[in-house]
Amino acid sequence: MNEMDLRALARTNEDATARKIHAVKRGYWRDDFIGLLAGACTDAIPIQNSPVMNRGFWLRVDLFSSAVRQFIAQVGGSGVHQVVCLGAGYDTTFYRLNSEGVTTPHTVWVDVDLPDVIAVKEKVFSALSSQLIQGLLHRLSHDLRDAEGLFQKLQGILCRDTPTLFLCECVLVYLDPWDSDAIIAAAVKSFPKVAFLTYDAVQGNDAFGSRMVESLRSRGCTLRGIDKYNTAESYAERFLRLGYTFSRALDMASYATRTWRLRPEALQHVKALERLDEIEEWDIIHKHYSVAFGTTWGPDAFSWLHGIIQ
Ligand SMILES: C[S@@+](CC[C@H](N)C(=O)[O-])C[C@H]1O[C@@H](n2cnc3c(N)ncnc32)[C@H](O)[C@@H]1O
Repeated sequence: MNEMDLRALARTNEDATARKIHAVKRGYWRDDFIGLLAGACTDAIPIQNSPVMNRGFWLRVDLFSSAVRQFIAQVGGSGVHQVVCLGAGYDTTFYRLNSEGVTTPHTVWVDVDLPDVIAVKEKVFSALSSQLIQGLLHRLSHDLRDAEGLFQKLQGILCRDTPTLFLCECVLVYLDPWDSDAIIAAAVKSFPKVAFLTYDAVQGNDAFGSRMVESLRSRGCTLRGIDKYNTAESYAERFLRLGYTFSRALDMASYATRTWRLRPEALQHVKALERLDEIEEWDIIHKHYSVAFGTTWGPDAFSWLHGIIQ
């Protein structure tokens, strides 16, 4: 990857942030912090999302927020717990959950991304009052392609035997498969009580998938991992192969259907905000994304997520 590729990757973060800002303005979820980053996304703003995109971003943000909430509820009472957000971009989950009282003084949170992205976040969030912080927040500039160096840094600030949740929202697919494999393998070797949650594009070889891959490639972003990890099942299989004892994965269309069934109030919430007539488009897009998790805790970990991803 050259400098141009890295800039194009950072731009995917600005695009995601601009779309989240739009969805927040429409009332999909509350985020008092993401608007602070609008000035850093000027190339991408103003973005107007379609109802399909707003609902899709709600689903994605709800997935990660719910995972962190459950993780902290499960392990937080017993003391320190660690969350590592890889390729965090301008993600504000720590601040949001902090303001909701979800994080605790025992929460240690690490955001990792490329230096330019981390520098913007440092600048924007240094203005926030330090009283807001319940827990300890670190920001690490690191190229994820160097897993060895990354885990040396993480071992310097985190505890090996403490429960640790890794979050990877729309990141691994941009890496070569050997680089993302190295991260997933190093996570379980370095932190034996681990859970690892991913959300990524899949099915890059059918008609819609090929167009998605080509459109990103034309903007300088190659989905380097999609040929090897082309299905939700391949994500689940990889966790087991690389040393995790339990894994599950599902395409996001099925995940959404099960979420609406198990949480009808969530469907009511998004329906009340905007009408969505493009059911076929929703289904096609979301069949091209997958959620996967691997853990060493067994089926008890993420019982909520496990309930959805049977
Ligand atoms: C699509 S954005 C997702 C950002 C955020 N996780 C979200 O979903 O809103 C991909 C992120 O991965 C980061 N990324 C991609 N390749 C990386 C690498 N080699 N090292 C560090 N970060 C990387 C990009 O800078 C960008 O912030």
